[in-house]
Amino acid sequence: MILITGGAGFIGGNFVLDWLANPEAEPLLNVDKLTYAGNLKTLESLGQNQRHRFVCGDIADYDLISELLKKNQIRAVINFAAESHVDRSIHGPDEFINTNIVGTYRLLQAVLHYWQSLTLEAQREFRFLHVSTDEVYGTLSPNAPAFQETNRYEPNSPYAASKAASDHLVRAWHHTYGLPVLTTNCSNNYGPYHFPEKLIPLMISQAIEGQALPIYGDGQQIRDWLYVKDHCCAIRHVLKIGEIGQTYNIGGHNEKTNLEVVKTVCDLLDELHPRKDGQSYQTQIHFVADRPGHDRRYAIDASKIEQHLGWRPQETFESGLRKTVQWYLDHQDWVTQVRDGSYRDWMKKNYQLDA
Ligand code: NAD
Ligand code: TYD
Repeated sequence: MILITGGAGFIGGNFVLDWLANPEAEPLLNVDKLTYAGNLKTLESLGQNQRHRFVCGDIADYDLISELLKKNQIRAVINFAAESHVDRSIHGPDEFINTNIVGTYRLLQAVLHYWQSLTLEAQREFRFLHVSTDEVYGTLSPNAPAFQETNRYEPNSPYAASKAASDHLVRAWHHTYGLPVLTTNCSNNYGPYHFPEKLIPLMISQAIEGQALPIYGDGQQIRDWLYVKDHCCAIRHVLKIGEIGQTYNIGGHNEKTNLEVVKTVCDLLDELHPRKDGQSYQTQIHFVADRPGHDRRYAIDASKIEQHLGWRPQETFESGLRKTVQWYLDHQDWVTQVRDGSYRDWMKKNYQLDA
């Protein structure tokens, strides 16, 4: 059995659904604290699937994790659990330190002690895969080469700094104690079940509700977008054939400015869900104050995972974004359900507006 953490979140949830769609795949034990970002509705289609077991719990709970590892003879752990929203980390870094740093540390300790108790053969088979971000590398100037695994860590936001710290802990638990770890650093994901306060789903929701589309600063910041299911596929590759102790950068070869992304979302909505007054959704674009310390450009050089593990993204930005916009139009019930009280409070705090 495989233990995954954070499997009720955006990427973890997609990972669970994709993994279990393969009837040959091992069962999953899914541990998630169900913070504001965790949502069991994402996993509703699994019904009573016997190959999925959910436990509401914290990665920082050493006793719980130790017990789950032992009882279920776990052969691999994939750590998706994290506080993941840069803007929230600016308003309140505490939870980022607690989960991303202290939580990862306690999880590593529980996993290490379990791993040390295994037979030599089981130890050799075991993997701890840590899911991280390209934001640990900091920001790039316009013509700088894309991030490679050898780039220096230069995190700029509380989120990125907390993820960088977690990556360092994972590395140290390998070098010091021999824990068989793998780390992935991925660029911005998009796709189904993305929490509607992140750029792409936020823009879709705001647009169809006739609200302003808030673009930070000049909208010229660049992100390298990857369709979430391509990320999940890359993680499966790394888990299966990745070399112990290595890190792999994962990206979509899709560098776009935020303004380009939002305009493309508007164009797709104009086609798939036109405004009643015949105007384009682009008229709702509204420039707002910039994010403090806003990184200007991220870009991933994914040649290592492509050459060593044979992974490549399947979706182009155009095909992935079209699927995503259509998914949100078809799943407004999911969006409505996640936009609870805490979401509305967040919108007021970050944008000084009512959601
Ligand atoms: P998310 O915020 O959507 O989901 C995080 C999940 O972790 C939620 O279900 C939440 O309930 C759970 N969680 C939070 N704290 C926990 C704790 N202490 N114990 C157990 N569960 C806890 O995040 P996401 O976008 O799905 O990101 C998943 C991972 O991928 C994160 O580690 C993130 O840093 C990384 N990542 C995300 C992106 C992206 O674009 N979203 C890109 C690269 C890497
Ligand atoms: P986000 O989805 O928060 O991801 P990250 O900060 O991890 O890259 O934001 C993506 C980009 O979109 C980022 O440059 C900030 C920008 N952005 C806006 O311009 N307006 C918004 O309302 C949000 C949420 C993000």
